[in-house]
Amino acid sequence: MTEVGIDAIEIWTGKLKLDLPNTFAPAKGEDPEKYTKGLGLNASSFPDTYEDIVTMGANAAHRLMEHEGLEPEDIGRIDVATESSFDNSKPVSTYIAGCLERVYDGKFSHANKGERKFACLAGTQSIDDAYNWIKAGRNRGRSALVIATDTALYARNDPGEATQGAGAVAMLISEDPELVTLSTEQGYGSADETDFLKPNQQFPSVDGKRSVQVYLARMREALQDFESVAGRVTVEDFAYGPFHTPFPGMVRKAALFAYRHMTRDTAIEDDLAEEIGRQPREEAFDDDEAYEEALREYMDGLKRTDAYQEWYGRVIDPTLTISRNVGNWYTGSVHLARASALRTAFEEGRDLAGERLMVGSYGSGAQAEIHAETVQDTWEGKIADLTIDQQIEDRYDLSYEEYERVHDVHNHDVDSDVEGEDVEGFTAPAEEFVFDGWGRMGERKYRFAE
Ligand code: COA
Repeated sequence: MTEVGIDAIEIWTGKLKLDLPNTFAPAKGEDPEKYTKGLGLNASSFPDTYEDIVTMGANAAHRLMEHEGLEPEDIGRIDVATESSFDNSKPVSTYIAGCLERVYDGKFSHANKGERKFACLAGTQSIDDAYNWIKAGRNRGRSALVIATDTALYARNDPGEATQGAGAVAMLISEDPELVTLSTEQGYGSADETDFLKPNQQFPSVDGKRSVQVYLARMREALQDFESVAGRVTVEDFAYGPFHTPFPGMVRKAALFAYRHMTRDTAIEDDLAEEIGRQPREEAFDDDEAYEEALREYMDGLKRTDAYQEWYGRVIDPTLTISRNVGNWYTGSVHLARASALRTAFEEGRDLAGERLMVGSYGSGAQAEIHAETVQDTWEGKIADLTIDQQIEDRYDLSYEEYERVHDVHNHDVDSDVEGEDVEGFTAPAEEFVFDGWGRMGERKYRFAE
């Protein structure tokens, strides 16, 4: 049977940095630890004035194609996942293909292009589409390019402002992939929710606290649905658990629920019983409130146990390293988590071939998806050349006043050029696609800066 999965990945971060404890917290009059300890974030990435979802996506895709020695004729499909699109008709993938055609001799005229939307879940759904296209035998030997690109901005003073971020992840989906194969089994948790939405507006309307609860509820359903097809999941089944990471504190909550679920009725629950008792069972309680209180108490004890902390440190924490320094990339976020885990394994010289990942994606509105991935023998060569650490290091560190200006530049409702002067970039582009102004039909134009 043909195996299908991720053959290669590339990451492009927005080139500006907002330091949360040192720049954002003092300006907001907040304790820096609210961000570093509470949300688990050190910094957010922002696009420079000449960057947007197209440039970041095209730059990630270009780098991936160069690294893999690909030409347009090798790609049969380009899907862009984003929740930051600026056009209700023309897909972002056409803009990105147009950029790439500036630097390659060949064209993407044969490639099927689209744009996927389901909040932060769309990147994973685009991988799904590519998987199905290849499995159906429609790919004629070609690979699919999936690009998750977002400028995750919130209105100023929205509680979500601390979790902003911007960047793109490009992934090549192929037969017999060299990084990870995808499981046939998937689990879903899906419901009509209004936790986070953008009804024809750039910045989201968010019920932040509710979105946290909806994330946990849909993720639990997805895990149960996954188990219904793949069998019971235990804490030792997976080397890493990359989850959608709007901010690391969210994953910290989700991981504790997942651990409780996976250890129920196992020897681990028995071992922990001496220390924190057994897990409360709903049928043993007369009313919901008492049951919920008992659960809270159990979870509180569980998160302090050595067994949980060892598992969290080994399986979950390594997925958060990149996210901690770049913020929420919406559609790209779970794919950053996977990259973060694989890069940690690479740096530690860990032999990961044949090991499995449990990947949990989530999109508000709302839907969670869980599937497994198996790391391939050739994985190290696909991770060794990632430059994300250097990119993070090289970002321009914004003052708070500069941050406000950049936020305005990317705000579609603010005319940043009001005094007739373009807002200068903070960094100098080199060998990359840049935004180059507007065309006569209101389209965005791009060029390759040498
Ligand atoms: N030191 C340590 N921790 C601190 C702290 C301090 N000085 N101050 C606050 N915290 C902790 C809080 O206890 C809380 O942790 P907990 O949830 O484990 O209790 C965390 O930091 C966040 O603080 P909170 O007051 O809840 O932040 P907030 O009201 O400003 O908003 C969100 C938090 C998540 C609601 C907000 O960032 C948001 O709306 N985000 C966008 C939506 C989102 O990402 N949803 C996730 C699902 S997709």
